[in-house]
Amino acid sequence: MPEFDAQVFVCNTVTGDDNHCGDKGGFAVRERFNELLKEHDLLGKVMISNTGCTSQHRFCETEQCSVIVYGPGADKGGTWYIVTPDNVEEIVTQHLKNGQKVESLRNDRLSVKLG
Ligand code: FES
Repeated sequence: MPEFDAQVFVCNTVTGDDNHCGDKGGFAVRERFNELLKEHDLLGKVMISNTGCTSQHRFCETEQCSVIVYGPGADKGGTWYIVTPDNVEEIVTQHLKNGQKVESLRNDRLSVKLG
């Protein structure tokens, strides 16, 4: 069974209304993760998945989307971010590689309490 150190969910839900993540930055953010995970040799260590709407798109500006990270240093219910493609490198190098949440990009409007 494959085992990963972290999992990243990128929302790229498209509705065609210019309001949801896939109509804003979702696809470019996902592409940037793909590039940087490869560049940082994290492809077999970080699982990346698309996710559906979690109602956070209302906080996303153009070029942004909702991202959730589970893994080293993440909150128990996942660490929720709102990011642009330009923010992805900081998440990869700071959070995924070093286990330090990127406080400036966190989306604190929603939290999930587990256990
Ligand atoms: S479309 Fe991404 S959170 Fe709703």
